[in-house]
Amino acid sequence: MSKKNVAVIPGDGIGPEVINAALKVIEKVAPGKFNFKSVAMGGNAIDKFGEPLPAESLKICQDSDATLLGAVGGPKWDNVPPEIRPERGLLGVRKGLEAFANIRPAKIFKPLASACPLRKDIAEKGIDFIIVRELTGGIYFGEHKLFNLNGERAASDLMQYTEHEIKRIAHVAFKMAMTRRKIVTSVDKANILTSSRLWRDIVIEVSKEYPEIKLNHLYVDNAAMQLIKDPSQFDVIVTENTFGDILSDEASQIAGSIGMIPSASLGDNNRGLYEPIHGSAPDIAGQDKANPIATILAGAMMLRYSFEMYDEANKIENAVDNVLNSGLRTPDIYVNSEGTKLITGSEMLNEIISRL
Ligand code: IPM
Ligand code: MG
Repeated sequence: MSKKNVAVIPGDGIGPEVINAALKVIEKVAPGKFNFKSVAMGGNAIDKFGEPLPAESLKICQDSDATLLGAVGGPKWDNVPPEIRPERGLLGVRKGLEAFANIRPAKIFKPLASACPLRKDIAEKGIDFIIVRELTGGIYFGEHKLFNLNGERAASDLMQYTEHEIKRIAHVAFKMAMTRRKIVTSVDKANILTSSRLWRDIVIEVSKEYPEIKLNHLYVDNAAMQLIKDPSQFDVIVTENTFGDILSDEASQIAGSIGMIPSASLGDNNRGLYEPIHGSAPDIAGQDKANPIATILAGAMMLRYSFEMYDEANKIENAVDNVLNSGLRTPDIYVNSEGTKLITGSEMLNEIISRL
């Protein structure tokens, strides 16, 4: 097999630390299988090139077989004009790769049950669901305007969805549910938003092609509540970009820590984008405190979804399980109790590597 090309975006803050960890793990399970090409994007690209996503960077991602991304942004760039903020670079990569389906698993790792903030009897019913977040539409990509209205400042952000955008994400969710417990919950705000009513109509239409799937609909406020009340009811949640952004942070806490959750963003082509769901955490950057697990697991998702390297992906996931079982914890997942030990990010990496 010829080497596969992977674009690597370390980004800002803790991004480079967690990416370094993921690359070491991948090299260990699949030595010599990949050419990694480091790409500037985010705040570091603003500093160097005056823009968060230089055309050359996007081109490298588009020409690669997959892209692995750390995290971007930080207070240093809080005051740059909105159109060149680091986050714009991230949206540019997602759009440029047409990665419209963002898959965010929320699963409680058994040894981390004590890090779950929910009541024990609720957590014990089981937490194992996937959020399928639409990633290249909605408010994130609608027109953003600051204007003058009757003599005062006004602002608006356009929430727009087209039929084909909703259809294709619905198919992803239904297909995923077919490999799982066959329940899809579509989350919208159809009691208020026209875009949500179109969303609901189309999800119902698409569901006719999947007669085995049980389809439920929840308004987003109720969904936020149900996630806390009884997360065991969920199998696959499908929702639009902004609702998915918010609910996936909530879900990550239910599952123990945002430092544990990877994500895959896929399109119709085969060039996936893989990233942890956490941000660049500038407050802990450079202190060896960051949990590398989310990015390491994003690497495992890349091996599985983009390269069909199932054994290697399983190996990584088992090594992570094994380390957690042995009680080792980075600060974000540390609860002082018998059998647990606080370790640094690089110690966590070494412990995972030694179990591969
Ligand atoms: C995420 C992040 C991003 C988003 C930010 C950094 C732009 O919160 O991946 O969830 O809102 O999509
Ligand atoms: Mg988010």
